[in-house]
Amino acid sequence: IIIINNVFSGLEPLLIEFGVDVVIWAHEHSYERSWPLYDNVVYNGTEGPYINPGAPVHIVTGSAGCQESTDPFNYPAAAWSAFRSTDYGYTRFKAYNQTHIYFEQVSVDRKGKVIDSLWIEKHKHEAYNL
Ligand SMILES: *[C@@H]1O[C@H](CO)[C@@H](O)[C@H](O)[C@H]1NC(C)=O
Repeated sequence: IIIINNVFSGLEPLLIEFGVDVVIWAHEHSYERSWPLYDNVVYNGTEGPYINPGAPVHIVTGSAGCQESTDPFNYPAAAWSAFRSTDYGYTRFKAYNQTHIYFEQVSVDRKGKVIDSLWIEKHKHEAYNL
């Protein structure tokens, strides 16, 4: 997904200011998970990429949508891209408590197999220090 566009770059400072943990995007008909990201730079946490990450995590989840000509990843993954898939499927997540949220990407093409998962663990909810 090409998320670096005018809409994205206009919103990104707000995500930093308000300490947004995770941003769930469409409308691309695919799935892609970023490393913690701001202004094209990855800010992984020191104890693990998603443990107190230094920037919001972005998940594009539109792979339940119809297939269109622009959907295949016909370009190399960006450095901030942690995982991507064009499998037909859906994302589910559970917020366990104030510090832990868990995401899974389910592939319908692979009969319900979980093809990606992550925990985001965040102990302070405040503006990022960038
Ligand atoms: C929050 O949930 C996670 C995952 O179940 C757990 O490991 C952690 O101990 C919980 N934290 C608190 C404060 O309950």
